[in-house]
Amino acid sequence: MKNYEIDATWHYHNGTKHPNGMLLNRFHVFHPSHRPTPYKIYKNTPSISLPLDKNPIGISTLDAVSTTGSDTNNTVPNIETLSRVLYFSSGITKKIKFPEPLGEVDFRAASCTGALYHIEIYIVCSDISGLDAGVYHFDPKQMKLDTVRLGDFRRSIIDATANEPFVKQSQVMLIFTDVFSRNSIKYQSREYRHAFWDCGTILANTLAITSIHNVPSKIILGFVDSQITQLLGLDIKEEAPIAILPLYTSGQETPLCPPVPDVNLEAVASDYEIEYPEINAMHEASCLTSEADVSAWRHHITRELKEPTKMIPLATSIKSEEPLEKTIIKRGSTRKFSLESITFEELSTILNKTTSGIDSDFISQDMISDIYIIVNAVDGLESGSYYYAKEKNSLEQLRKGSFRNASGNLGLDQDLPYDTSITVFLMVNLDRVLKQFGNRGYRVAQLDAAITGGKMYLVSYALGLGATGLTFYDDIVTNFFSPHAENKETMFLIAIGKKEKST
Ligand SMILES: Cc1cc2nc3c(=O)[nH]c(=O)nc-3n(C[C@H](O)[C@H](O)[C@H](O)COP(=O)(O)O)c2cc1C
Repeated sequence: MKNYEIDATWHYHNGTKHPNGMLLNRFHVFHPSHRPTPYKIYKNTPSISLPLDKNPIGISTLDAVSTTGSDTNNTVPNIETLSRVLYFSSGITKKIKFPEPLGEVDFRAASCTGALYHIEIYIVCSDISGLDAGVYHFDPKQMKLDTVRLGDFRRSIIDATANEPFVKQSQVMLIFTDVFSRNSIKYQSREYRHAFWDCGTILANTLAITSIHNVPSKIILGFVDSQITQLLGLDIKEEAPIAILPLYTSGQETPLCPPVPDVNLEAVASDYEIEYPEINAMHEASCLTSEADVSAWRHHITRELKEPTKMIPLATSIKSEEPLEKTIIKRGSTRKFSLESITFEELSTILNKTTSGIDSDFISQDMISDIYIIVNAVDGLESGSYYYAKEKNSLEQLRKGSFRNASGNLGLDQDLPYDTSITVFLMVNLDRVLKQFGNRGYRVAQLDAAITGGKMYLVSYALGLGATGLTFYDDIVTNFFSPHAENKETMFLIAIGKKEKST
């Protein structure tokens, strides 16, 4: 099976490394005036306005983020809940005016590389209160659902996931898709990494908002790609389904699927026709092509454990009652950090609350990535480099010293990782993941790390701190944390610290 020919992933991953990956053109420039429309616009299709109540329901961000999908009671979502789930995942939360040619830009609930917003959300549901069974597309600009198909098509997803037990019982399924060119216009072939980074930050919000509504969920990455593409009517060269999040288990039998003819809807997907064949090649190499392949692919991985030495136990978490909705609305990537310290209690809370793991078809209530940290300024903790020994709830010091210069350098020589209090690197033994999951393990590894990164954004903001995702020089990060990290690749980087106060 092509999925297990993992040279394809190494070709893509090594080729898209900064600074000299051979699949990246160093001289490529992106002009902001070429920013594509950041959402899909369906023409001439009936739409349903989404009722929206943004008021907090009173659950704290810290509780929301640390609850995993299956911890929650089982409450059926209605259109009001669905609307909140969509808004607090990917809705427009603020507008900022920039000088022309950019002008006013809509910013969204979750962070996204370059604010290009290449992840779309589709909904496949049975009849729920306020919404007929159908396949819909979420339009964040108008806060409405575009009708793609009417009827109960859940069986088609159940088949595509080879009867995955949670999917089989779900009444509402969210499908996250990636419009390649909307992000590759700036980031070239590295876009395919961003697909999972930017889907992961959205999913961190989705998991938190569904958990406060007591709606259980499970992340599904094993499915026959072509079946989902056909159901949603996607242009196979331009857009791909990358994750499914079934919600709520009904215990009821799902009816047989109506016929699934081709979707004949006109949609403006992107203003530019840009092709990066390496993205399509990486995507195709990680596709599963039959239900038998999906069944064979689906199994849980366990974390690789490393016995830590010289452990520093984490402090007890700080209490913060800030409600989730408030944190999401105020979140925004920090553009300038002060050089001030955060406290050891704040760092401990960030680690405690974001590492409870996820429920998915590749891991159960755990996470795959390992966490490496450069501590630039934390009261109560010596500056240096650290490994987070999750099982021991402790930090292991790898090297002590002032590594601000290294921190700035690893984060692509930007000021943000230099000025920040800590830089957090989510790394995995990619070879081990690929040997288990084939090329599709690349999707697994990237998404797993990005969800934790997205949770870190939320917890940092709930604590009154700032945070920003960052890109990085791949191999220099591995070298910096070696020998401890010598077989690991960086999947996600986030800087956390105090925001510089505007004068
Ligand atoms: C994975 C990831 C990587 C990012 N990398 C950088 C970066 O290298 N430099 C930077 O200034 N901002 C970076 N950002 C921040 C984005 O530019 C920011 O999320 C986007 O402009 C949307 O703004 P918001 O997060 O304030 O909503 C990154 C964000 C993410 C999620």
